[in-house]
Amino acid sequence: MATQIALFNHKGGVSKTTTTFNLGWMLAKKGKKVIIIDCDPQCNLTGMVLGFKEANEFEAIYNATGVRNIREGLAPAFESRPVTIQPVICETIEGQPNMYLLPGHIGLAEYEVTLGIAQELTGSLLTLQNLPGSLSYLFNITAKQYSADILLIDMSPSLGAINQNLLMTSDYFIIPMAPDYFSVMATESLTSVLPKWATWAKQAKKQPILQKATYPFPDKNPKFLGTIIQKYKLREGNTASRAFQQWINEIEKGVSEKLIPMLKSNGMLLPEEVYKTAGVKPNLPLIQMSDFNSLIALSQKHKAPIFDLTNDQLESTGIVLERTKKSMLQFHELYSEGADRIIKIIENA
Ligand SMILES: Nc1ncnc2c1ncn2[C@@H]1O[C@H](COP(=O)(O)OP(=O)(O)OP(=O)(O)O)[C@@H](O)[C@H]1O
Ligand SMILES: [Mg+2]
Repeated sequence: MATQIALFNHKGGVSKTTTTFNLGWMLAKKGKKVIIIDCDPQCNLTGMVLGFKEANEFEAIYNATGVRNIREGLAPAFESRPVTIQPVICETIEGQPNMYLLPGHIGLAEYEVTLGIAQELTGSLLTLQNLPGSLSYLFNITAKQYSADILLIDMSPSLGAINQNLLMTSDYFIIPMAPDYFSVMATESLTSVLPKWATWAKQAKKQPILQKATYPFPDKNPKFLGTIIQKYKLREGNTASRAFQQWINEIEKGVSEKLIPMLKSNGMLLPEEVYKTAGVKPNLPLIQMSDFNSLIALSQKHKAPIFDLTNDQLESTGIVLERTKKSMLQFHELYSEGADRIIKIIENA
């Protein structure tokens, strides 16, 4: 069975989507078969991978015949169609034969309310019993179809029912963060939300109705892989690295003192040796990265990872080219190390 890894933080703009694409590519480069799954109704990952700029460009994949996006994949369960869930026909990715995209759909948001009701585990459950296990079922049969080893789940910035489901039915999760006030606050709210989700999942797993469903709720115990901190500033103006460092210290403090103890008492941490063997500490970032600067625009333009742009794609010569290549190689090193750590953790867990 493929290993499902969720990239989750309800704080927006912390590089969840960018990391899904680049980390997925690096894992694929290391020989893993990867499917990146766009579970955000904003569909940024789908837009990025397929190079869509205009909303109407999505229409082609939405109107194509066959099951080609997440909403269409889930529709048999959510719209009570008289057919069972079928694997999604994923998009291939130019330049990376080991990676596929399971496209997102703006209409996924319409399923959020129904899923929320189904997840309340109350009297209405009988009619909605197939919903809580349906996402996991869809991903698994799709993974099987493509012989995937790893599923990377790009999530929306929210604490809604879909994210609750995605996180609690994953094998692992990563929390991407930015060194700012909001990420520190986000760590605090995760500390209060995750225990509720864990309690819910424990109950859901015990519900006979959910076990007997067409799409049974899976027996998963999601474990924390670590944080990924990206040092960049979205708005104009440079933030002094001193300010970044202060926020990084704050984040690490929040992670060590609040997040980790909470994860531990909710069974969401791996045994210490597993992290140790992979050369990481759960309270320190799995990967820490600086601003991609000019590389981000080139990566998006060429639909290629930050760390593997060709000389042509770098669109420069001479000294500028050399400088950009040097910075690109540093990102290659960081992603490579991060991917190795993840692979080691999974192998030893
Ligand atoms: N290390 C980085 N350096 C510079 N820019 C970055 C970096 N990582 C991401 N970005 C840019 O920051 C923006 C937000 O990144 P991204 O969309 O990956 O975040 P997100 O967490 O998925 O956001 P959302 O919560 O809205 O889904 C994007 O424009 C992206 O190109
Ligand atoms: Mg995103």
